[in-house]
Amino acid sequence: MTERRAHVLVVGQPGEGMGPAVPAWIDPLVARGHRVECVHAAAEALDEALGSFLPDVVVVDAGDPRLAEWVERVRAARGSASIVALAARTDAALLGQAVLEGADQALPREAGAEAIVALVRRAWEKPRYAEQAASAERAAHEELDLSRFPGIVGSHPVMIRLLRRVAQVARSRATVLIHGETGTGKELIAGAIHTNSKRAAGPFVKLNCAALAESVLESELFGHERGAFTGAQARRIGRFEQADGGTLFLDEVSELSLSLQVKLLRFLQERELERVGGNETVKVDVRVVAATNEDLGALVKSGRFREDLYYRLNVVRLEVPPLRARPSDVLELASHFLVELAAENEVEVSGFTEAAKQALLAHPWPGNVRALRNAIETAVVLCEGERVDVGDLPLEPAGEGDALQAMVPGVTLEELERWAILRTLRAMGSVQAAADALGISKRTIQYRLQSWGLTAKELLRDEA
Ligand SMILES: Nc1ncnc2c1ncn2[C@@H]1O[C@H](COP(=O)(O)OP(=O)(O)OP(=O)(O)O)[C@@H](O)[C@H]1O
Ligand SMILES: [Mg+2]
Repeated sequence: MTERRAHVLVVGQPGEGMGPAVPAWIDPLVARGHRVECVHAAAEALDEALGSFLPDVVVVDAGDPRLAEWVERVRAARGSASIVALAARTDAALLGQAVLEGADQALPREAGAEAIVALVRRAWEKPRYAEQAASAERAAHEELDLSRFPGIVGSHPVMIRLLRRVAQVARSRATVLIHGETGTGKELIAGAIHTNSKRAAGPFVKLNCAALAESVLESELFGHERGAFTGAQARRIGRFEQADGGTLFLDEVSELSLSLQVKLLRFLQERELERVGGNETVKVDVRVVAATNEDLGALVKSGRFREDLYYRLNVVRLEVPPLRARPSDVLELASHFLVELAAENEVEVSGFTEAAKQALLAHPWPGNVRALRNAIETAVVLCEGERVDVGDLPLEPAGEGDALQAMVPGVTLEELERWAILRTLRAMGSVQAAADALGISKRTIQYRLQSWGLTAKELLRDEA
């Protein structure tokens, strides 16, 4: 075992806080056959390295203000790795703080290359957790058991990489933020985190933060006491409490108001809450998985999202790739939906014509997997032959301009608006994507639908 080579990951490129251009302790490690890699002190770079380089030892800068975050990320993705913090100078307070923040070892750089090398080797030879844990983790990496993800179709390398990360992070209680365009499968991924975790036997509770008005949302999340407000005739248990022992999935988390963001942050820090109108403190054991298709970083900059909450949520971030980034999955998904929907609609179709396949591959899929599923459903219903042909697929945006020209003049603005909203909704497959495409807010779409006596749910079968 002593002959095994360690993978050492250095957080912070040379000169970025890790001292001189190439720190003197790196060469001796490399000379002993250990592999050393440096990454930028940035969340994405670190996550990427944790998932692909599989470090045994992670070296961090003790003075880095985001040290606690690096530690949390390393623990979540690679629990068996030892964390060594190096400080720019001998500063007991700084070294002590690094250990308090979760580093296994801390040392000043002044201790010299040899001492650092010895420490890194020791950190690796006596890992924090058992060696078995590390080899089990390694094995899990080599062979991804796809049966752990029933219902998730796709084998493109970016998807496999995502599922690997899901299997890894599922084990911890770390808060996870799932980011991806509309219809990419964020909710499926959230479900997979739950079912692959130790909490699988516990509840999986979902709440769409965009679906409710702020006042309702608060008591929906945290519950309320009897008499908390007019109409509160009995105590109500909120979603956090319902999810005790399990996972709470907060969809469209960007839509939380600033005051609810404070409450969510407090929960993530203290793991306790108070029901609306109550003063009893309730402790619950819930893992939070949040999803958004917004750029939360940009919302932080514009003041619409709290920075501290952003960092809390972003500890582990999973990026669900858009469908156009995994072309080989398009036909795999299309065939999967074809079989499913043909059976559901009791239609006999056996596949796609070559032209239909080409059209599916050429389409940019702004509404991603959801829109693909909707398109296949239409095709299954329209298809008259044995196979789905290109004409059965509702894909071509061409001719749309003509349709519009044919209608104007002659229609009222309201009719035009209704036509545009419904058409965009169907094409995009979700309220958010339609709102983005039309340049209006989601709430506007929801109000309009309401006034026409329609719901997004009816229009888009699977829209929450
Ligand atoms: N990889 C996949 N395999 C099979 N079905 C998928 C896959 N990805 C998505 N789907 C299906 O596509 C639809 C949309 O997925 P989901 O609701 O998880 O997307 P989302 O990212 O949460 O979208 P939104 O941002 O609009 O809420 C669902 O019907 C889901 O079952
Ligand atoms: Mg969703």
